Amino acid sequence: MKALLCKAFGPIENLRVEDIEAPTAGPGQVLVSIRAAALNFPDALIVQGLYQVKPALPFSPGAEFAGVVKTVGEGVSHLKVGDRVMALVPHGALAEECAVDARGVIPLPDDMDFVTGSALLLTYCTSLHALKDVAKLAAGETLLVLGASGGVGIAAIEIGKLMGARVIAAASSEEKLALCREHGADETIDYARDDLRECVDALTEKRGVDVVYDAVGGAYSEAALRATGWGGRLLVVGFATGDIPRLPLNLALLKERQILGVYWGDWAKRHPKLQQEHLMQLLAWFRGGKIAPPVTEQLPLSGAVDALQRMARREVRGKLVVLTGS
Ligand SMILES: NC(=O)c1ccc[n+]([C@@H]2O[C@H](COP(=O)([O-])OP(=O)(O)OC[C@H]3O[C@@H](n4cnc5c(N)ncnc54)[C@H](OP(=O)(O)O)[C@@H]3O)[C@@H](O)[C@H]2O)c1
Repeated sequence: MKALLCKAFGPIENLRVEDIEAPTAGPGQVLVSIRAAALNFPDALIVQGLYQVKPALPFSPGAEFAGVVKTVGEGVSHLKVGDRVMALVPHGALAEECAVDARGVIPLPDDMDFVTGSALLLTYCTSLHALKDVAKLAAGETLLVLGASGGVGIAAIEIGKLMGARVIAAASSEEKLALCREHGADETIDYARDDLRECVDALTEKRGVDVVYDAVGGAYSEAALRATGWGGRLLVVGFATGDIPRLPLNLALLKERQILGVYWGDWAKRHPKLQQEHLMQLLAWFRGGKIAPPVTEQLPLSGAVDALQRMARREVRGKLVVLTGS
């Protein structure tokens, strides 16, 4: 089978598409013929050795996909050959086939295509958990989303609106902000051009926002924390800038603000029942036309290297999906 291969941690440009032996489904696993795999920011980090997880070499990056069950391993009774499915994996999605633990495989709803199914799980599950369980976002509150045109950002905009919040989207270009508006943002801030704090003050009559969704880090985090009002909550989701900020704690004291970490993957392992409820909620929203993964590009496997480079250079919007199989 063809797979994008990382043979040594290093620059993204070193990744190659190669023919390798296909995996087989071990006990408790299914082998999935992948049709579509969505890219996520950590894919660009993991191949450079910059992510918290370092897989054994060589490996294929890629964490989420949709496809068709090709073979079923021993002991698996709830899935059969030909089932349409979607799944999250630690790595291995940027390949034509992937063997995956059958317990983590989710049936793809009949009305969901492979591209959409590949681009739903990671970002929407993260943002729903962050806003509902961690921030406890309430209807009528104001939510500021940083890096809002990215994968988790658009999911945060859509879910924030569904939870009844007023959503302010911050991103670095007019083109990116246009995508945020298409997905429901009430107001937008170009934080590459304008001062984030001043813009929030103007939009909130100086009351500040209630919740910040921060998947960006760097200097934006402190500016955003300062832009929260009394009891404001800063969600620490990620550091796409590559810079983990150090924040002055007097900012927390002064307005009883809270700085709250979000680690969806570990939370989901610890709370499988709640995660299942979230999944049901997301699928119901999808069926009702309330959420729509923002797929902006569909690429062949040979285009994945360039796509990951552009993602690392801050040059993409929404979700990029690689069409892997036939
Ligand atoms: N905590 C969790 O459970 C969890 C789960 C999933 C993802 N994450 C993290 O969330 C972050 C975003 O992931 P994603 O897949 O949504 O990424 P993405 O689609 O690439 O979006 C990231 C956004 O960050 C902004 N950004 C600012 N500086 C950047 C830089 N130097 N390079 C690249 N982007 C930059 C970009 O928007 P502007 O240009 O508009 O600033 C970009 O749209 C990642 O750090 C990821 O690891 C965390």
